[in-house]
Amino acid sequence: MDNMWVVLGTAIFLSAIILYRNCRFRLIRSKHRSPLPLGTLGLPFLGETIEFVSFAYSDRPESFMDKRRRIYGKVFKSHIFGSPTIVSTDAEVTKFVLQSDAKTFVPSYPKSLTELMGKSSILLINGSLQKRIHGLIGAFFKSPHLKAQITRDMHKYVQQSLANWKDDTPIYIQDETKNIAFQVLVKALISLDPGEEMELLKKQFQEFISGLMSLPIKIPGTKLYRSLQAKKKMVKLVQNIIQARRHSGLSTVPKDVVDVLLNDSSEQLTDDLIADNMIDMMIPGEDSVPVLMTLAIKYLSDCPTALQQLTEENLKMKKLKQQLGEPLSWSDYLSLPFTQTVITETLRMGNIIIGVMRKAMKDVEIKGYLIPKGWCVFTYFRSVHLDENHYEWPYKFNPWRWQDKDMVSSCSFTPFGGGQRLCPGLDLARLEASIFLHHFVTQFRWVAEEDTIVNFPTVRMKRRMPIWVKRRGDP
Ligand code: HEM
Repeated sequence: MDNMWVVLGTAIFLSAIILYRNCRFRLIRSKHRSPLPLGTLGLPFLGETIEFVSFAYSDRPESFMDKRRRIYGKVFKSHIFGSPTIVSTDAEVTKFVLQSDAKTFVPSYPKSLTELMGKSSILLINGSLQKRIHGLIGAFFKSPHLKAQITRDMHKYVQQSLANWKDDTPIYIQDETKNIAFQVLVKALISLDPGEEMELLKKQFQEFISGLMSLPIKIPGTKLYRSLQAKKKMVKLVQNIIQARRHSGLSTVPKDVVDVLLNDSSEQLTDDLIADNMIDMMIPGEDSVPVLMTLAIKYLSDCPTALQQLTEENLKMKKLKQQLGEPLSWSDYLSLPFTQTVITETLRMGNIIIGVMRKAMKDVEIKGYLIPKGWCVFTYFRSVHLDENHYEWPYKFNPWRWQDKDMVSSCSFTPFGGGQRLCPGLDLARLEASIFLHHFVTQFRWVAEEDTIVNFPTVRMKRRMPIWVKRRGDP
């Protein structure tokens, strides 16, 4: 009899809990049609940041996400870098976020970064001004005229760099590519040639970016303060260039991004805004391209069959052009099919930009999840790019996977983001990588020393990718 009461009591108790939970769920549902994603906000104030960062330093940063994906699903809630955050490792949810406009989501960056970029930076502004600047830059970077110029410049800078390589000292690929890509970028933005001013700019830029992930304290002596001083000096240099252009009359055919923005007739683009943005645009452009080139060399060093196919393709093109007596044009480089698959696969595996952060401007419902107003969304590309549901053997460097599929435009491949903020430098990045790979593999054989990829705070090689080279004979 006693047992019966225990069973009955337990049943009533459990029913009450289920009834309460259902009612509560309905209440939440009636207020917001979708529930918040599952997940935990971690410790007060710190949230889950420490765990996120410790995974980020490992060779599998996505393990932080994998652990939560298994428990809560591909979209979950967390608390990282001081904000309650919805993490998306789901390709469709990520696509929705990237495609949304500024009424729904705006970019969200750490405070030190927003201090350094200033309010009018392309990386922070929204609405019509962002669309205008983005459109102008994107069109210029896509123009055949610029691509021809970049090809000539790249050719010159790569040849200058390779000419100094000797077979009795190690070559640090990360340093070499950084140097080449910086020269190309500065030429495309403000037409500055290598020399004293370029060296000064390089030095100031290094000081500037060292404060990007610093404590947001702006007093003399702090990293952020020194960064801001460095930015001021760089902005001054660009302002002088702008004044000189205004003085000598604007050219009708723009030769660099400054020209493109100066030629714009809208009054929104003031000289100060243009000068500031030239420096801010170096932030996404400066580090990413050399890392792409370095990682390609790393993956090729570890995959001899891919290296052989890439080398044969490039030697064939080089021979053909030598017979025709003409240099390679930008379209020749981009028409090398296997070279392009190597770059695509490097972008997929390398995850140079692991994802992007946005802040919700209103309550948003996506695929049955609620993203509350004021929360951040972290669209984590890395998990999508390494998801075995999208890519067979995702941790294997396999450029051939791109031969039959047009996945470059699919929503499970977003190394350059998407929507209104799709990287305007993507063509430039691919072209630079193609040119570098061409000259490198057709002129050298190499042996790479042991090195590992570091993933945080930015992707890079631990030992700067030392290799030993040997010059090839003529093809
Ligand atoms: C491998 C090389 C590169 C990668 C992986 C890359 C990746 C990205 C990604 C993911 C975004 C989107 C950010 C967001 O949605 O908030 C972005 C934006 C941007 N990128 Fe790149 N990028 C690369 C090279 C470049 C280069 C060479 C430039 C040239 C200056 C450049 C300029 C920009 C700019 C200005 C934006 C901001 C666009 C806007 O918010 O309207 N990027 N990039």
